[in-house]
Amino acid sequence: MQHIQSYITDHKDRFLAELIELLKIPSVSADPAFKDNVIHTSKVIKESLIDAGCDHVEICETEGFPIVYGEKIIDKNLPTVLVYGHYDVQPADPVELWHSPPYEPVIKKTDIHPEGAIFARGACDDKGQMYMHVKAMELMTKTDSLPCNVKFMIEGEEEVGSVNLSKFVKQHQEKLKNDVILISDTGMIAKDVPSITTGLRGLSYVEVEVTGPNRDLHSGLYGGAVANPINILTKMIASLHDENNHITIPGFYDKVEELSAAERAEMAKAPFSVEKYQESIGIDTVYGEKGYSTNERNSIRPTLDVNGIWGGYIGEGAKTVIASKAYAKISMRLVPHQDWEEITQLFKTHFESIAPAGVKVKVTPHHGGQGYVTPIDSIGYQAASKAYHDTFGKNPIPQRSGGSIPIVSLFEQELKSKTILMGFGLDSDAIHSPNEHFGVWNYFKGIETIPLFYKYFTELHTQ
Ligand code: BES
Ligand code: MN
Ligand code: MN
Repeated sequence: MQHIQSYITDHKDRFLAELIELLKIPSVSADPAFKDNVIHTSKVIKESLIDAGCDHVEICETEGFPIVYGEKIIDKNLPTVLVYGHYDVQPADPVELWHSPPYEPVIKKTDIHPEGAIFARGACDDKGQMYMHVKAMELMTKTDSLPCNVKFMIEGEEEVGSVNLSKFVKQHQEKLKNDVILISDTGMIAKDVPSITTGLRGLSYVEVEVTGPNRDLHSGLYGGAVANPINILTKMIASLHDENNHITIPGFYDKVEELSAAERAEMAKAPFSVEKYQESIGIDTVYGEKGYSTNERNSIRPTLDVNGIWGGYIGEGAKTVIASKAYAKISMRLVPHQDWEEITQLFKTHFESIAPAGVKVKVTPHHGGQGYVTPIDSIGYQAASKAYHDTFGKNPIPQRSGGSIPIVSLFEQELKSKTILMGFGLDSDAIHSPNEHFGVWNYFKGIETIPLFYKYFTELHTQ
């Protein structure tokens, strides 16, 4: 595919420069302080879709941040690819741990990325990966090689649960009609091990509040005689796992999909070094549910993790106090067949039931979503597989990921089409963490592979 290579070579510097400009805008959806920046980013995306050759581009307002929609319909008889991505990013905190400011992108070499990686919040998740699709679109329209119809739907609320996108999808089934959905918002096993994500975990996210006395108390005058909400909360949380690291919530595992021995053996073939894994995150041993490997624990098994816990005095020095309240944010990653709303209810019932006398417990559900699995015999998967084979020289490995993109299962439910997750990020790219980055090599590999997906998908679809 000579035209792909030569177009990328001719426009390489601009492709990088444009992404760097996009990364300079702090489009943090979770924090209202960044509202104007998020809205501004939607306008930049709109312009980029027009420049890439979309015939019709619009900003669709929602109760939250806008959805950018673009399309190029070349022939109603040809298949349609719907590209989804998100232009919002996670907060950059803790900012002091970044080696360079999160919204001043810099390219630096790393051991894994000797060609350089762009360091900035959103570099990999998902601005860099989403923008690969915009540039692949430009490449196809400018070289007259777009083989089918395209629709883009880029949202600004993925990192906060895609609530408004869910409504939008339900209301616009005809507009969003497609033959396959294509997303780059996941990772690959390694730079030399191309992989297609075939599963995502679901999510239930809750906040808990434990209230004891009606005010903060002197820990000497009252200590030992009243229930301390922080002591109680930590005890309650600790009881949510047993000695084998199984989750103790009654009914939690009832619908969990159990993989066959053959499927587990297949999974175990993916290249993985536990030593390297430990080293990369600075731990001396892995930890988790008894009876499962590390790769199983972080993909096909459900989990429960405290994401934040607070209460009492956390300022300088010591203050002797028994706090009136203690809080925690808890996420449960779910696997296919577990229903997130049912699990949220099971959690709530159980957590309230284990509260001892002397405290009151409140459980507030946040967002959630269902898990997703997709077969490897769909034409979308086959097209992706052929595309990777062309650009990596080998077949990709199917991989179940531990992360969540809750909107994907809703796409299947509402739009009745399969999603192909062609991710180009690496676990070491530090998404959601300080010093997030995206390999320059990965960025261009994505731009090179995507047009081939379109080509093979159109061929297989029209056969
Ligand atoms: N892109 C990620 C999800 C992801 C990353 C999946 C890597 C697989 C591999 C997405 O932006 C994300 O962070 N999702 C959230 C869920 C959302 C509801 C906040 C997550 O997984 O925590
Ligand atoms: Mn993402
Ligand atoms: Mn994310």
